[in-house]
Amino acid sequence: MKKTVSTNNVIEKPIAPQRSFAEVLEVAVARRSVLQGGIGLAVVGIFGRPLSIRAQDSGDTNGETAPVIEFTPVTVQDAANQQHWPLISEDYDYDLILPWGEPIRPDGPAFTHPPSPDNQEVQIGIGHDGMWFFPHPEDIPNEDETSDDESTDTADDDDETEDLMNTRGVLVINHEFGSNSRVLDSDLPSNLDEVRASQHAHGVSVVSVERIDGKWQIVESEKSRRIHVNTPVTFSGPAAEHDLLKNRNEYEPKGTLNNCANGFTPWGTYLTCEENFHQYFSETPYSVENQRYGLTYTAGDSYGWFRRDSRFRLSSPLYPNEGNRFGWVVEIDPHDPNHVPVKHTALGRFRHEGAAVAVGQDDRIAVYMGDDTSNEYIYKYVNDESYKDVLEREESPLAAGQLYVARFDDDFTGEWLPLTLENEELADRFDDDADMLVHARIAADLLGATKMDRPEWITVAPNESVYCTLTGNSLKSEENAANPENPNDYGHIIRWKDADMHVGTTFEWDIFKLASSTQATEEMFGNPDGLYVDQDGRLFIQTDGGQGEGAREICNQLLVADTTSGDVYRLFTGVDDCEITGVAFTPDRKTMFINIQHPGWDNFETSLSTQEFPGIEGPNVPRDCTVVITRKDGGVVGS
Ligand code: FEO
Ligand code: CA
Ligand code: CA
Repeated sequence: MKKTVSTNNVIEKPIAPQRSFAEVLEVAVARRSVLQGGIGLAVVGIFGRPLSIRAQDSGDTNGETAPVIEFTPVTVQDAANQQHWPLISEDYDYDLILPWGEPIRPDGPAFTHPPSPDNQEVQIGIGHDGMWFFPHPEDIPNEDETSDDESTDTADDDDETEDLMNTRGVLVINHEFGSNSRVLDSDLPSNLDEVRASQHAHGVSVVSVERIDGKWQIVESEKSRRIHVNTPVTFSGPAAEHDLLKNRNEYEPKGTLNNCANGFTPWGTYLTCEENFHQYFSETPYSVENQRYGLTYTAGDSYGWFRRDSRFRLSSPLYPNEGNRFGWVVEIDPHDPNHVPVKHTALGRFRHEGAAVAVGQDDRIAVYMGDDTSNEYIYKYVNDESYKDVLEREESPLAAGQLYVARFDDDFTGEWLPLTLENEELADRFDDDADMLVHARIAADLLGATKMDRPEWITVAPNESVYCTLTGNSLKSEENAANPENPNDYGHIIRWKDADMHVGTTFEWDIFKLASSTQATEEMFGNPDGLYVDQDGRLFIQTDGGQGEGAREICNQLLVADTTSGDVYRLFTGVDDCEITGVAFTPDRKTMFINIQHPGWDNFETSLSTQEFPGIEGPNVPRDCTVVITRKDGGVVGS
């Protein structure tokens, strides 16, 4: 979401001098060449191991194989040109599907604007963001059964199922936000129905999709459902039963909000992350804790839900702790329409951007997470034992583990600092684990974690390197080597590698790319946000912003970076005033899904430029939608 940076917890004036670009680049580039070139035993191989699955397949663990990126890039597109339609590399095709308002069942109610609450509840939401594609379990070839059997029949069956898992499945899409002017065509809801319509436009869509005659479309399925602000949810972990999550009447918990980026687990579930939840609550009583989370007296005035729905008025004696029920990572089973979404308190409460899951040493899992606000932190959760053992007991690997926050030291090492009451300072500050997890930001402050330039998406490469977008920061409260620019208008991508295969407490880091270094070149991009690295080491970068204050404004875009060389190629550019977000692939990676969020946002009412976008039958308003991307030659997307 493009937004002005909130001013809580921020010192307006930079307190450290700006490090020159040249100085920063020198350090970053020198570091990369050390890490990749294999000179110096202390750091050799940390980031230098090839990411290519082919190299791994051939046993060539010391090779220098770079990912294949051969497409003809799109040239830089100036925002001033007000693009009506996306542009894609001449080697690729795209299609636009799943616009805001499309019914999630083929026979559902058609989109009208503004939507009624009942219709919006069974239609795709607005503000498309993180998403993932899940093949149906029955379409996934069973490796155990097929590997020993070489009969022709079985081979044919395998081909067929492989085809099915790449041509149909469940797409789960986050709906981050939708301003009243877009959803309701008015500044404030004038009755409870309008509040409900706005609430139902938020949340998550779970839809069964299939490629029929070359076109991906929604198909009838029991799995399709909407999860929104009023859907029953439940809590897991140390804070689940705590008073901090109970309201006066102990109402059952409901809803998920401002669903930004996402994650997915090795056991086949989806993680949706609650980012700017504070924007929906008003009349919040002052407390240090509320203030630290941006829950201020007027934070929710622009949505105005609190005027008709007292759940969002935190001065209401019925709902004093409703604000504590948001700011979590929420797990959803895409295949079970009766599954109640679970908010995992062990992963901490903050403005969650995404949740990148890695399988680490001893089959323990790590979840890397960013808190997307200026000068906030990067966190990691590690579960206590093999996730397979936990699942066998029918428990959740996300319910019991250790939460850490990152400190990046100037010597390119770092430490994961545990949020634990064994720490005396934390024991003094918090009543118990639940209190600490509900107020994870305050614990991180006390631990001396490193303030970052707005952590957005995180992605984990097969060689254990972890990449994170830092989208920019004009409100620096400190300067440090991991966030070297001040102000940071263009953002950067940082990279680290943990000790002990994701479960260790130390790491080494470097800066993969400063977006400022790409300005005035064909690689030009700014404000990186969405991020995904594939098995071959192609890093997909999505942007969200004007690409820099006072700089040449260019269209938001999807780029593909070579993680070996650092070279960047532009695959796709969006339309006027949109953000590019969401990354999902079919298992064969020959179909990619991305999202176009808030097209024509800035001049929604006055500009005709994107009025018809995405050109799908319906009212004449620009609609968020999903983009299907394929290579013309049927190859892997990104190559
Ligand atoms: Fe929802 Fe941080 O973008
Ligand atoms: Ca953003
Ligand atoms: Ca984002």
